[in-house]
Amino acid sequence: MTKATNITWHSATVSKADRRSQNGHGSCVLWFTGLSGSGKSTIANAVSSELYRQGINEYVLDGDNIRHGLNKDLGFSDYDRTENIRRIGEVAKLFVDSGAVVTTAFISPFRSDRDQVRALFEEGEFVEVYIDCPIEQCEARDPKKLYEKARRGEIKDFTGIDSPYEAPERPEITIRSDKFSVGEAVEQIFQYLQSKNII
Ligand code: PPS
Repeated sequence: MTKATNITWHSATVSKADRRSQNGHGSCVLWFTGLSGSGKSTIANAVSSELYRQGINEYVLDGDNIRHGLNKDLGFSDYDRTENIRRIGEVAKLFVDSGAVVTTAFISPFRSDRDQVRALFEEGEFVEVYIDCPIEQCEARDPKKLYEKARRGEIKDFTGIDSPYEAPERPEITIRSDKFSVGEAVEQIFQYLQSKNII
């Protein structure tokens, strides 16, 4: 692959600040991270629905969905996961620039990848949301029967089985999804967004 040369950055006429001011709310990325089956997509969609109901510009970027399109060339090797997260970080940045509260639901198992994404954003724009659920519970839920397949050796490099998950050290929000309901998780996230004057 050859890198592009002779390219110039063009500043947009309408700024992020203009869009925030017109929207009447701030923008940020709620970066969900957690094991497969921990509840990332469910909680992300519930947050999104409530934001939408309140008239706030929102969007959900979901791992399974993005891997059907933008990232369909990527698998689950360490290298591919890093590239997956790098691209989503860039897409999330565009959404934040557009004035939206964007929710991302990717396992994003590597701390260094999440920290690289955090570094793309201005202070306060990257909100790491750790969906903390013991692997035993995720495996008991196993909504897509993927743990079952991984245990049988039919899926290689499965997070938590034969591929690592590095939990966040200082996430802005931690949700114990085995202890709290989806509604309580949404409430916790809204309290955070309100306390930071994002919404
Ligand atoms: S990552 O690690 O952030 O790049 O993964 P992500 O893009 O979020 O994709 C995770 C979803 O892909 C399915 N799946 C796997 N997950 C983990 N490991 C392996 N090997 C794997 N193969 C397929 C699975 O449905 C994940 O969805 P969630 O919603 O997390 O269960």
